Amino acid sequence: MNTGLHTPVCDLLGCEFPIVLAGMGGPARSELVAAVTKAGGFGFLGMVRESPELIRAEVEKVRAATDRDFGVNLIPAATKPDLLEAEIAAVLAARVPVVCLFWDLSAELVKRLRGEGVLVACQVGSAREAEDAQAAGAQIVIAQGVEAGGHVRGTVPRREIVRAVVKSAHVPVLAAGGMSGGRDLVEMLELGAQGIVLGTALLATKESFAHDYHKQRIVAARPGDTVHTLDFHVNWPRGAYVRVLQNSVTRREHGDPFDGHREAIGKEGERTIWLFSTDSPLKDMTGDFEKMALYAGEGAGAIENIPSAADRIAAIMAEAEALQPKETAAAATSEEKLSSPVCYANEASDQYAGYATREELIAFCNELLEAERAGARITARSSTEAKDSATRDLLRDIQKDEARWCAMLLKWIAHLDGTPSPKVGAFYEKCLAFTDLKERIAFINRGQGWVVKKLREMLPKVRDDRMHADFKAMLESHEENIRRAS
Ligand SMILES: Cc1cc2nc3c(=O)[nH]c(=O)nc-3n(C[C@H](O)[C@H](O)[C@H](O)COP(=O)(O)O)c2cc1C
Repeated sequence: MNTGLHTPVCDLLGCEFPIVLAGMGGPARSELVAAVTKAGGFGFLGMVRESPELIRAEVEKVRAATDRDFGVNLIPAATKPDLLEAEIAAVLAARVPVVCLFWDLSAELVKRLRGEGVLVACQVGSAREAEDAQAAGAQIVIAQGVEAGGHVRGTVPRREIVRAVVKSAHVPVLAAGGMSGGRDLVEMLELGAQGIVLGTALLATKESFAHDYHKQRIVAARPGDTVHTLDFHVNWPRGAYVRVLQNSVTRREHGDPFDGHREAIGKEGERTIWLFSTDSPLKDMTGDFEKMALYAGEGAGAIENIPSAADRIAAIMAEAEALQPKETAAAATSEEKLSSPVCYANEASDQYAGYATREELIAFCNELLEAERAGARITARSSTEAKDSATRDLLRDIQKDEARWCAMLLKWIAHLDGTPSPKVGAFYEKCLAFTDLKERIAFINRGQGWVVKKLREMLPKVRDDRMHADFKAMLESHEENIRRAS
């Protein structure tokens, strides 16, 4: 894995790659969330205006498919207060770890969710809104550019809003709007975002709940085929722009969308789908799909197939890895250094001399890898909870170090022909149980002390000089971080 593509927000969310499935109301159901999550990304169930029963059922389905974390997306401004309350109760009862909110900021809701231990992400359309969201307690902000599909809060191009939000943000920033490939990911990381949020590109996958008609229209779209319009407005707050593929509605073939006339164009179970409504074609709908809101971002023109979500994510990651010049250069240097066979003890005489065997080294690296992963994740999460900048900086520095050591351990496991453990150490859950940040940091320090002890014990048994140097550097960095934290 190219370690430059594993950013701190990955540890905060518990995913491998900085690719997030947008909480698309309708298309982002359990099958897609599970597929994205299993493929190493992070997924939000799009649950806007859905019943608490559906939320519970969808959460259970994702959990049955994967034990990795995922989130739920809600839109308070587009949901009647009593339904919103029921949705929130369902999310909290199901102990959903991450919630993404969109449209008008509800500072009260952000605070409430935070108070319940939920990690809160807010999608915003301006730097000002990003500041307000952070002031309310948002731990991740998603900067949405005007290229985005679906409802569009952003008014300026993605590059512009990402630059502006990154400049003032003190929490991780994700970029959203009009992206489809690894090039977009690399570019956004270069601008300081920690990852990307994809809607359209993951809607056009096998597992999404969008109707095939919608997926095929995205594949058929050419660059420039989307429009930014107010035409699909029924059941949303007035004046909310959407980006859709041009169709008979946007060409005004059905008259003025605001003249008040109502026409049924489809059904979802007993529910009627109205002309000019914000509903997009879903698998369980029937009707005249051409007249519905065919949401799509500006990246639709670059989408040419309907693969599995895992294949889409793998293709994006492969392109990003190939394009990341600095990282690849750094990786190449370390590969070069390791191009000679790894010198590990696998002979009886070496064992007799007290050197660790290959199996022992792989087990050792995996044990530390799980611990460092837990450490990276807990420090990433805790840094967003720190009230003062000194604690925040300390936790972020430790987090960066832990992520660096994860990469180092992965490198050695690969060179020893071992299989890296996918697990996150139990330390993470134990640490989370400390709600007081001071107590948690003390516990983190104990964990670091454990790593130091392990490394001290192993170092005399490491025969390979390069591995020895890496372990020694890891030991010293842990000792330094323990000193700083105490
Ligand atoms: C079909 C569709 C439905 C969407 N529904 C939601 C939603 O319910 N909640 C939300 O926060 N964003 C929603 N969005 C917007 C996404 O969060 C995101 O900003 C957008 O998909 C990014 O642009 P892209 O589609 O070009 O990747 C939706 C987008 C699409 C395409």
